[in-house]
Amino acid sequence: MAFLSDTLARVKPSPTIAVTNKARELKEAGRDVIGLGAGEPDFDTPENIKQAAIAAIAAGETKYTAVDGIPALKKAICAKFERENGLRYTPAQITVGSGGKQVLYNALVATLNPGDEVIIPAPYWVSYPDMVLLAGGTPVFVEGKMEAGYKISAADLEAAITPKTKWFIFNSPSNPSGAAYTRDELKALTDVLMRHPHVWVMSDDMYEHLVFGDFTFTTPAQVEPGLYDRTLTCNGVSKAYAMTGWRIGYAGGPVELIKAIGKVQSQSTSNPCSISQHAAVEALNGPQEYIAQSRVAFERRRDLVVAALNACPGITCPTPEGAFYVYPSIAGLIGKTSKGGVAITDDEAFASALLEETGVAVVFGAAFGLSPAFRISYATSDAALSEACARIKAFCEGLH
Ligand SMILES: Cc1ncc(COP(=O)(O)O)c(C=O)c1O
Repeated sequence: MAFLSDTLARVKPSPTIAVTNKARELKEAGRDVIGLGAGEPDFDTPENIKQAAIAAIAAGETKYTAVDGIPALKKAICAKFERENGLRYTPAQITVGSGGKQVLYNALVATLNPGDEVIIPAPYWVSYPDMVLLAGGTPVFVEGKMEAGYKISAADLEAAITPKTKWFIFNSPSNPSGAAYTRDELKALTDVLMRHPHVWVMSDDMYEHLVFGDFTFTTPAQVEPGLYDRTLTCNGVSKAYAMTGWRIGYAGGPVELIKAIGKVQSQSTSNPCSISQHAAVEALNGPQEYIAQSRVAFERRRDLVVAALNACPGITCPTPEGAFYVYPSIAGLIGKTSKGGVAITDDEAFASALLEETGVAVVFGAAFGLSPAFRISYATSDAALSEACARIKAFCEGLH
């Protein structure tokens, strides 16, 4: 349609949202569907956070606020960065947006010029490439192979850097693979970045709290303080406190960049929801028990799903360190045909036949830039996960 912009023509709608919608449609049509597509905790927002929001409404905190966050929330975010990441930021170095997504997007809009390159390890969160394209930049992909736990190496990163590189987007634990970099693995990457002072680091720490066993989370500016002046450390309350609907994300970084992000926000959406900001203050400053409880549940589910998927013929599922996703390879299934007669030519055909024939909704790997694979979000009940894995196994056994 000629009326729409050329910029819009460069991007595609979010495939994860498309899968969630398709699963919902089938459900509404009476089909027995198990949705493993959505990337949000199935737990309710903790009660103390809800009460803080109710108190904010009662106190009349229902008006415009400062564009990039109320002082109390910026203070709580500074305390969080120091307490959990050993990073010192002043309130002037903090920006708050309507979800982590908005903060990342505004940062790209505020900094990218045509021709600027942004390095994105694959498999990647579906929004990174399209956000870069919308902002006028060029995504450059670096593949993290399954054999390497879906992580990239220092040499991979070094090879992708050019004089045009503006940002390196780092996401650990990762959506979609759940892979998380150890301090040493991250240090190898930050050593490369230290040799290329024109490259800035956008660290998306959204799944920081969801790491399992004795894994310790670290973030680039913490591991290499020499990167502090060119790192935007991004985070949010969505996944850590089951607050996806509240829409609060934030970042810490150099003052000039933070001001530029605020400028974009001031001319688009203005402040994030005032009530949600008060709820986020309670999330960050209040009791933190929820985090440990959810971590225990997610670790149990990860183990359940990894074991069940590895029992499916043709599927190989590495054990990720964190988040609430697994990213199994289906290399062993390509070329087969389903009971329903669908040729499994790629991961999109696999996911679509799986949904049609078993009612299990997963997201195909091509959406995340690494095939043939698929993503399962295990943020759902143990019973639903067991049933879904049993159906996937039956589906794989039925292939010929
Ligand atoms: C890696 C990653 N970053 C950022 C976000 C955005 O989170 P929010 O809901 O706060 O916008 C998500 C959400 O799925 C994500 O998976």
